[in-house]
Amino acid sequence: MMSDDGRLPVVVLISGSGTNLQALIDGAAGGQPFRVCAVISNRPDVPGLQRARAAGIPTEVVDHTAFSDREGFDAALGDAIDGFAAELVVLAGFMRILSNAFVERFAGRMLNIHPSLLPAFPGLHTHRRALEAGAREHGASVHFVTAELDGGPVIAQARLAVAADDTEASLGARVLAREHILLPQVVCWFAEGRLRLREGQVWFDGHPLRAPLQC
Ligand code: GAR
Repeated sequence: MMSDDGRLPVVVLISGSGTNLQALIDGAAGGQPFRVCAVISNRPDVPGLQRARAAGIPTEVVDHTAFSDREGFDAALGDAIDGFAAELVVLAGFMRILSNAFVERFAGRMLNIHPSLLPAFPGLHTHRRALEAGAREHGASVHFVTAELDGGPVIAQARLAVAADDTEASLGARVLAREHILLPQVVCWFAEGRLRLREGQVWFDGHPLRAPLQC
């Protein structure tokens, strides 16, 4: 169900600085067909919450340290999301592993952005690991979230060449800048109804996607 103004209501989950959240806020303000209806963080006092408040977006903290187990945290997080009647959940730098029950609850309507060309380098420290592996290309991926960590079907990627003098910081900064274009683009496609997950397969414009889209 769309909101009254016809734009898709999106809840964004964050754990930190929220620059990808900012890209979504800016995209929505610039007329893209979605709106950020709430921002939920598992950490209090992170800069991303400030970004949301500055944009007049409701925020909520579901602090994982207040729960004795993952299931309890995930149930509270899921209830918080449902309280905002979101059509899409976007993990934008949300650094918690999610239970199968949570993933099932939002199956087909939850996206994650990850700073590598998946399936390469799931998990943490992706830029360092890409450099250590001598990767010639690196980038970022947006995928539907499934139970496997950073393992759901990839929708779209931003690729860039690794420079000979790249450091973890320089490479990370270039990837992040591309993330800020990639993520709003994929959310737009979802909002426009061009993108769906059916039986574990990404569909785009009515056809199964054979390879990730390039942004
Ligand atoms: C981004 O690079 C995002 O891809 C990454 O965290 C960063 C968050 O930055 N996510 C992951 O590593 C998830 N596995 P931001 O808070 O400035 O958007």
